[in-house]
Amino acid sequence: MNSHETQENQPIALNWRMSVAPMMDWTDRHCRYLHRLLTRHTLLYTEMVTTGALLHGDVPRHLRFNAEEHPLALQLGGSEPADLARAARLGAHWGYDEINLNCGCPSERVQRGAFGACLMNEAPLVADGVKAMRDAVDIAVTVKHRIGIDKDESYDFVRDFIGTVAGAGCEVFIVHARNAWLKGLSPKENREVPPLRYEVVARLKRDFPGLTIAINGGFKDSAAVAGQLAVVDGVMVGREAYHNPWWLAGWDEEFYGAAPSALTREAVEELMVEYMEREAREHGTHWYSIARHMLGLRHGLPGARRWRQAWSDHRLKGLPAREVMALARTAPSVQD
Ligand SMILES: Cc1cc2nc3c(=O)[nH]c(=O)nc-3n(C[C@H](O)[C@H](O)[C@H](O)COP(=O)(O)O)c2cc1C
Repeated sequence: MNSHETQENQPIALNWRMSVAPMMDWTDRHCRYLHRLLTRHTLLYTEMVTTGALLHGDVPRHLRFNAEEHPLALQLGGSEPADLARAARLGAHWGYDEINLNCGCPSERVQRGAFGACLMNEAPLVADGVKAMRDAVDIAVTVKHRIGIDKDESYDFVRDFIGTVAGAGCEVFIVHARNAWLKGLSPKENREVPPLRYEVVARLKRDFPGLTIAINGGFKDSAAVAGQLAVVDGVMVGREAYHNPWWLAGWDEEFYGAAPSALTREAVEELMVEYMEREAREHGTHWYSIARHMLGLRHGLPGARRWRQAWSDHRLKGLPAREVMALARTAPSVQD
């Protein structure tokens, strides 16, 4: 079990009970900073970074993160064991707590690179990659995958995939509970059209009781999450966490037994503005690329639309973030 020190010097154990999914273009370090303000315990994932981008590209651009983001997993896309090992070593060196291998992305671009979901057809190669990464780093090496490929709904396929990859030492599987259809669907459709089959994940947990199995796909409320936590070891939430981040403010209490949070949305907004000011000073980041991740903070509240419009109004881009906050807060509070 990995651990690291929190700001209060309390070690927080790495576990997979709650996590926010890796999402390209969404879960960048600014988004994760927001999520970490809302929940101390939830495990956060980066966007997928390909081994090619890491080994031949701008490493700091891909790997830099804020110390506050721990516990934090780096998701890799790739298939060559030697490249995966080198990329994992970089991730460990930069201080990530976990390396996760993407075996669930169905995009055509990823298929051309022969990684992502199509790797489910090559379990021995995934096992080699896992072994190479485990030999290279001391941190956890985990796999995120689907329950099948195309229209093949045979349970044996996903069971054998996990069996082979677990044989190489992977102990944690995050299972997006729908098939990936490799032809004919866009990545977005591939998150909506193939049916969710949670019972497959429950069966995997029964067949592999010694492995950590987290479920992913379609979670939108705490009751559904709690139901799954009675069956499997963890729940990973993607889109709903992004669109309705305030939900995360209850997770430490609901799913980790922590004391109730005293946070308010206003306090979170204020802390985000402080972060925007720091980022502008230290890295020249424009607040606009940070604010875009918090537009859902008032999701469901009266006036949310006007508040969101102020924070996403490109005509206000020339103003300091603090002034935009003042404008957003005084935007006429019409009912959405
Ligand atoms: C915008 C977007 C980008 C995504 N990028 C990735 C990615 O980089 N790696 C990955 O494993 N899954 C990616 N996913 C899939 C999510 O991690 C998750 O498996 C999927 O959205 C289902 O969970 P949900 O129903 O809670 O959103 C992405 C999803 C979205 C919406």
